[in-house]
Order: sequence, then structure tokens, then C-alpha cells
Amino acid sequence: MSNKTTAAITAVGGFVPPDVVTNTDLEKLVDTNDEWIVSRTGIKERRIYKEEGKGTMNMVMPAVWEVLKKSNTKPEEVDFIICATTTPDYVFPATANLIGAEIGAVNSFGYDVQAACSGFLYALVTGSQFIETGKFKKVLVVGADKMSSIINYTDRATCIIFGDGGGAVMLEPNHEGLGIQDSILKSDGNGAQFLMMDAGGSRRPPSHETVDLNQHVVRQEGATVFKFAVTNMSEVSAQIMEKNGLTPDDIAWLVPHQANKRIIEATANRCGIPMERVMLNIEKFGNTTNGTLPLCLWEYEKKLKKGDNIILAAFGGGFTWGAIYIKWAYNS
Ligand code: UT7
Repeated sequence: MSNKTTAAITAVGGFVPPDVVTNTDLEKLVDTNDEWIVSRTGIKERRIYKEEGKGTMNMVMPAVWEVLKKSNTKPEEVDFIICATTTPDYVFPATANLIGAEIGAVNSFGYDVQAACSGFLYALVTGSQFIETGKFKKVLVVGADKMSSIINYTDRATCIIFGDGGGAVMLEPNHEGLGIQDSILKSDGNGAQFLMMDAGGSRRPPSHETVDLNQHVVRQEGATVFKFAVTNMSEVSAQIMEKNGLTPDDIAWLVPHQANKRIIEATANRCGIPMERVMLNIEKFGNTTNGTLPLCLWEYEKKLKKGDNIILAAFGGGFTWGAIYIKWAYNS
């Protein structure tokens, strides 16, 4: 029993839509090939959410229900809902509010966190503060993106990378010293121009012109983003280990954002963590932006043991990046 209250993940849920788009499928849309995509990114296929008239909220609901069930949480017990997403259902209201209404979380409030691929890390840290202070007992943190809604399927530089999917976790107080131990979060808006959506916001509202120019889609200078991602995700992961006196042998799992297998390998290498202890599902799901980290935790949940030291790390548009050190709180 520790005097300090920490915020621990007590359940994980995940969802990927059933429709698979393989590299061979993309060969029919853009000038690319399976060999290039696999060797440059590690991606073999990704999922696309095809439900007509439905967005990120509907897509992630199976994951939300799973978390409520696994954590024995009644909707009215949820205090706070944070949804990390770059593809909200609407510019406003927040997708977190739609999730709250869908489950009947009548005693909660919520909002979205927009930090591109680092959003889930930012949201976890935000939620953990409310648990640590004793203000809340049940914080639902969702990370999900329907990236297909903002991808240009004639742009080979982006359409091969992204996919749809997401997950959710419950954060609850822990008195055994388990859960979130430390975090380092960073951002630098000087990187904005290299990975962004040009129109649809207040600077360039939607118009016939923005639609004609195809500006409501992700635009990325891949090689520049790659360079920053390798450096910053590696450094911040190594930094959080050093700050907490952790050696590679102390780490049970590295949970890296799934943007490119080469970035993941560089990060693992910098931290001295062998790839057997690195969560990896980019091959099947591609880059689901805010969905990658909860989807990794969801797929590997059964392998995680109480007390395991795990490092979550991400890098994304903004630029945003960061790492979180967690002592896993349960055996499933
Ligand atoms: O999650 C948010 C953060 N995002 C990231 O972390 C993504 C970071 N960037 C990347 O993962 C990589 O930069 C990409 C996968 C996007 C691109 O890989 P790259 O190795 O950096 O390729 P490149 O853009 O430097 O292009 C190399 C060559 C070029 O041809 P030339 O000029 O050398 O003849 C491209 O035109 O590869 C060509 N190329 C392609 N060829 C086949 C670019 N995209 C493709 C493609 N298929 N899809």
C-alpha cells in the first residue's frame, strides 16, 4: 500500500474495421508496389471503415464497450472522457461528447485532444492528473482515427501508410505504486508545415476552391518527417529510461507509435531493447494515428504482467512527440 495515488490502466479495448486494403489493392490506385511498401514501411495491409454516414465515434464504440465491461464500469460511474483524435466526427461538438451520449455517461464531462499521432499519450497524461489529485475515479481515454476520411487515394506518399482503427483504456486510482510513473511530452509548431491538412480550419475554410485543390487531406513531406521522427522518438524514449534509472533489461515492452517499422527499429535500437520486446502490428493495421498505441496494448494485453515496466512512445504532426513510463497494473 502506497500513500501516493497513481493512475493505472485497468482495462483495454480495441477495434479495427473488417475491410482490409492490401498493398496489391493500392497498386491499382497509385504507382507503387508491395515490395516498396513493405521494405520502406513494414506495412502489408490496413483496415478501412466503410460504414456509410458513420465516423470515428461509431467505429470506436466496440472498444469503448469492451473497456466498460472489462473494468466493471457502469456508464454513470465514468467521470471524464478524453478522446484523442485527428478525425473527429465534426469540427465541433467533440467526439468525446458523442461517446458519452452513446454510452449514457450522464455524470461525466469530456473533450477531444488533438495532437496528431501523439494524442493518445497527451490524453493519458491529462487523464492521469485528475486521478492522481483524487478528483476522479474513472477516466475513459479513447484514441481513434478514421484516417480514410482525410486520405488522398491518389497520393502514394500518404495513402500507403494510413489505416482506420482505435482503442480505449480505463484509468483508475492505484495505491500499490503501479500505473503511470512518468512522462515527457513535447511539441514544436515549427514542424507544422511538414505534416498537415491545408484547409478546413479557420485559416482556410472549406470552399469550392479548397475542394477542387484537394486540400482536405493529409499532406506530408515524408522524408523530413521521417528524420524528425527517428531522432525525437528515439531520444525521448531513451531520455525517460535514463531519467527513471531504467536499463534495457528492466523494460518488459516498448510500445511505439506504428508509423514506420524503420522508425520503430531505430527507437528500439537507441533504447537497447530487442525487437522481441517491442509491440508491433504495423504490418496488419498501418498507421492509425491516435489508434496505434491502444491497439498495441489491446493486442498484447494477455502478455502483459502486473509490475511490467513499459515505455510508450510516439511522434506525429505538429510536431508532437513524447514518452510515458508505466508499471503495468494487472494480469489478464
Ligand atoms: O505518424 C505520423 C508521422 N509520420 C511518419 O512518421 C512518417 C514518416 N515518413 C515515412 O515513413 C517515410 O518518409 C515514407 C514511408 C512516407 C516514405 O519513405 P522514404 O523512404 O522516406 O521515401 P522518399 O519520400 O524519400 O522517396 C524515396 C523514393 C522517391 O523516388 P525517387 O525520387 O528516389 O526516384 C519517391 O518518389 O521512393 C518514391 N516513392 C514511392 N515509390 C513507390 C515514394 N512513395 C512511394 C510509393 N511507392 N508509395
